[in-house]
Amino acid sequence: MNTHLKLVSNMMAIVTVFCFSSLSVSAETMEYSENTTAVINSGIEKTVVKVDEESFSCIREMTPVRHFYIDNLLGDIDSTLAAANNPKGEVYPTGSVVQLVPTEVMVKRESGTSPATGDWEFFELTVDESGSTIAKRGFVDVMNRFDGNCFSCHAPARETWDFICESGHGCDPIPIDHKMTGALQRSDPRCGEAVPEDGDWMALFKLKAMVSIGLTKKWFEELF
Ligand code: HEC
Repeated sequence: MNTHLKLVSNMMAIVTVFCFSSLSVSAETMEYSENTTAVINSGIEKTVVKVDEESFSCIREMTPVRHFYIDNLLGDIDSTLAAANNPKGEVYPTGSVVQLVPTEVMVKRESGTSPATGDWEFFELTVDESGSTIAKRGFVDVMNRFDGNCFSCHAPARETWDFICESGHGCDPIPIDHKMTGALQRSDPRCGEAVPEDGDWMALFKLKAMVSIGLTKKWFEELF
């Protein structure tokens, strides 16, 4: 093995150890079942963010900010809204939930849960009339339906936007415009009846055409 390869394989070993250690941290915090401040062994108080399928529901019942939606699982929606509206960007408070489309979510976990991702946990959901199912969840290794890694695509926006991409924060673009994300929000099956606006049918039709020519890979296939 030449020196370069050796270096790469050493780095991979370090990354693997890092991933496993961050998994064990999250397993430890997951055993608490309430969204509350729990007292743990040492007597130190710790905020716990419980996230399960019940944490997610109709996207349009969240708080709208520009073209996306926010919430806070600990009830601190004012701080989440302040972070989202800070024109210079800001670190989102624990418990924050951010969604652009019904099936992808970022949740701000307890401080120190995952330093690499700024404590964001990434989720991919499947949604239907009866609610949400968590298809995938995790920190550095969750892939979306494009086979794109949530964390690495959002990482360029770390400074100063706390991994929130929007437009112009440095992330690689996604091939879905706001007309399409809006149409998906207005037809979230968890909300009951769709509330289409003019042009939504065409936006969803275009999205469907992109899916069928393979541009969006499998991202929205199951929606049609
Ligand atoms: C190809 C890069 C890429 C990948 C992979 C990716 N995203 Fe994003 N994401 C973006 C971009 C760019 C935006 C902003 C789009 C816009 O508003 O026009 C965005 C927006 C979002 C938003 C709304 C807040 C924001 O950052 O603007 C959330 C939440 C989100 N993505 C979650 C996820 C999750 C969860 C995954 C993995 C399951 C994921 N993303 C994978 C690029 C990506």
